[in-house]
Amino acid sequence: MRIFSGIQPTGALHIGNYFGAIQRWVELQKGNECIYCIVDYHALTNEDTVPAELRTARRELALGLLACGIDPERSVLYVQSAVPEHTELCWILGCVASYGDLTRMTQFKQKSADQEFINSSLFYYPVLQAADILLYKADHVPVGEDQVQHLEEARRIARRFNFRFGETFPEPEPILGEGARIMSLADPERKMSKSAGPDHYIGLMEPEGSIRKKVRSAVTDVGLTPGQGMSPGVANLFSLLELVAPADVVETFRHQHRAGKLLYKDLKENLFTHLMAALRPIRERRQELEEAGRGDEILAAGAERARAIARDTMREVRARVGLD
Ligand code: TYM
Repeated sequence: MRIFSGIQPTGALHIGNYFGAIQRWVELQKGNECIYCIVDYHALTNEDTVPAELRTARRELALGLLACGIDPERSVLYVQSAVPEHTELCWILGCVASYGDLTRMTQFKQKSADQEFINSSLFYYPVLQAADILLYKADHVPVGEDQVQHLEEARRIARRFNFRFGETFPEPEPILGEGARIMSLADPERKMSKSAGPDHYIGLMEPEGSIRKKVRSAVTDVGLTPGQGMSPGVANLFSLLELVAPADVVETFRHQHRAGKLLYKDLKENLFTHLMAALRPIRERRQELEEAGRGDEILAAGAERARAIARDTMREVRARVGLD
């Protein structure tokens, strides 16, 4: 399989990114051809993105991904804007993408709802995302659940292109893992994300004391008595525990919950301990990578490999649509 996925350099990597996508990126490196992209063009759609911070954020994210286990010997890791073919293909795909489909994108509706000024790239975002994937003719895309609708759109765009210009692109399928939908600990009705503010996510490299505080103050039951079903907050804590703790530990707590004997304090303390154990190797590796200082070199080599594939696809696309 050829795997492609992307992540925005918009601040610290959080455990939603890790358990929702990056962990799968790492596993898929075995036996597949993987291309992983730091999507800085996408980050520009965010009005808060500041030029000097974007530069640091790309580098920081590259080191974070390497620390998580992305292996530059096996996978291509690069920054989107180093391969301008992404935007060239985006324009061409825009000519087969449906305006009506784009108006139905949930992420656009959510992101534009609380903004006075809405830049047009925010609306066009899914077309660039389709270009990212199709440029490499990737057939599988590991993502969290929030990206599934964008992938459906990428499939529709591939289908329309193939119909109008002849069979060119495979229709990419999402790969979803167990952690595909991690919710905010402070507001378990919304997904964990950076945009809601620091209380709403746990950063992979965050100081231990701060992680402990966030886990301890996680929202549990609002208007529910223990033993009566499971509130979104408790369900989210169990989902996280399942990702980091052995099955027997999870089962013990589930049993206590069913019996109405669960103490949230114990559940949180255990979650914290197992979460830190899962994150520790990543945090240590991140420190070593800082000292080795190879980030820029790895990204430059990655961009070169990505561009070779991108150029071939664009040669074919230009010929198909009649530009060459
Ligand atoms: P981004 O940068 O918001 O997130 C990167 C990856 O992390 C996943 N994720 C989550 N998974 C589970 N629970 C959460 N709370 C959570 N928050 C984030 C996301 O689903 C994603 O897989 N548009 C994309 C970036 C992108 C892309 C692409 C992805 C651009 N081009 C091509 C795949 C293919 C985005 O903003 O992801």
